[in-house]
Amino acid sequence: MTAWDRRNLLQLEGLSREDIVELLDAAERHVDAVRGKTPPRATLAGRIVANLFFEDSTRTRGSFAVAAHRLGAAVIDLSSAGSSVSKGETIVDTALTVEAMGVNAIVVRARPAGAAHLVAEAVAVPVINAGDGRHEHPTQGLLDLLTMRQHLGDMTGRIVAIVGDIANSRVARSNVHALTTIGAHVRLIGPPALVSGFFESVAAASAPGTVQVSHELDPVLPLVDVVMVLRVQFERDSDISADYHELFGLTAARAARLKPEAIVMHPGPMNRGLEIDSEVADDPTRSVIRTQVTNGVAVRMAVLELLLGGG
Ligand code: CP
Repeated sequence: MTAWDRRNLLQLEGLSREDIVELLDAAERHVDAVRGKTPPRATLAGRIVANLFFEDSTRTRGSFAVAAHRLGAAVIDLSSAGSSVSKGETIVDTALTVEAMGVNAIVVRARPAGAAHLVAEAVAVPVINAGDGRHEHPTQGLLDLLTMRQHLGDMTGRIVAIVGDIANSRVARSNVHALTTIGAHVRLIGPPALVSGFFESVAAASAPGTVQVSHELDPVLPLVDVVMVLRVQFERDSDISADYHELFGLTAARAARLKPEAIVMHPGPMNRGLEIDSEVADDPTRSVIRTQVTNGVAVRMAVLELLLGGG
């Protein structure tokens, strides 16, 4: 599935620039409500959203629940431990089961790439991919774009460095698709073993200068508008050398070489002192990591409304 069917949100690959701008504009309209400045509207009152999280999550799981509550919807929340998945029930059977209970949408996070697509093929209610293995994390890509747009305006021609464990990152995949669709340029930076396969082929197939792979961070820093630092995913067996922090860690000294208006992002959770130092992560002038989290609720409100017809 490539083009967006507007029934489910499974990936950002295939969305047009207009689709992405529509979603960002819709999310922007919820930001004041998320910040408590305006009352949210209960546009999804009476609806039920099923959160099926078969991989650990704090931000995505919590913010989908907060987003649904803010719109007046109820949430049921299932994970592997404590559900019949622990007895061997499949993710698709679990989804069919909650659909039979009458839920109105299913949010799914699972370790296998393609899991959300399988669920979407099996059920009739809207399905939202909350992260499937190394494939995509579309609402993360949208909240990242919203955060960049708020700080930098139109991203056309802006340069975004994505740094670290890229090969394992669904966040990087969703961002590469979305950023190139809206006209930004991407620099993928990390050790050779962590910028491999899919990303090398994307860079090779892209228009000159659009997506480039580099294995050195320092020369790129003064040129970029955004540094998106990625977590080293030890749970996916990422193998890093002892000098990883020395070569790729975003330290205060490195951050000092960024343009004055450049921003620092991280999807979380962070390995502080490895891919990013606390001085940078907590820097109130450059770091927008908390804003990303706030925007995550707004994006998920927008996506739920769009797919459930409550907008
Ligand atoms: N960014 C992100 O997906 O974080 P969680 O794993 O905590 O949901």
